[in-house]
Amino acid sequence: MSVFDAIATRKSTRRFNSRSLDNRSIKSIIEFADKAPSAKDRKPWSFVVITDQSIKVAIAHILYEAARTPTNASSIRDGVEKSADAIVQAPVVLIACDSQTTGVGKDSHPADLLSIGAAIENALLAATGFGLKSLWVGDVLEARVEIANLLSLEHPIISAILLGYR
Ligand SMILES: Cc1cc2nc3c(=O)[nH]c(=O)nc-3n(C[C@H](O)[C@H](O)[C@H](O)COP(=O)(O)O)c2cc1C
Repeated sequence: MSVFDAIATRKSTRRFNSRSLDNRSIKSIIEFADKAPSAKDRKPWSFVVITDQSIKVAIAHILYEAARTPTNASSIRDGVEKSADAIVQAPVVLIACDSQTTGVGKDSHPADLLSIGAAIENALLAATGFGLKSLWVGDVLEARVEIANLLSLEHPIISAILLGYR
């Protein structure tokens, strides 16, 4: 698939079937993410690969709980719950972290988030090239500390990427 076709055909998918991904594709997608440009060449990203169903379910439960926060409007609540449902279905969840930062807002460069976004988009386009469906999930930010604690992550979570087939 050409880069033009990947850009033109990538669409967000929120429902996945149970077909699993081979490890080589996952590794390649992360390698393509790593080719993204980054401000000051900091490459401020790292990706945690989650395929264990019980961990995906645990993340989803944290998000269902966060969605129930009284301050959340019903539209936000619905969106977060749908994202949590998709996390449970997706065979692979990549958690994108800010590898240059040990705490939210500390040690970061103002452009680091842009760089991480570029890496995530590279991952989505590479996944499209491999014939996979994907979803960029920013809703994990609704419970970023709780999810980071669950996964024992030392760097802040920026987003999740769901990968699979439909
Ligand atoms: C930074 C960012 C965060 C996003 N977070 C979510 C999310 O948490 N849940 C979700 O279902 N979609 C999420 N999306 C996907 C958008 O909803 C989607 O890209 C948009 O509706 C356009 O649809 P398309 O990707 O099919 O072109 C996110 C997209 C971006 C760029």
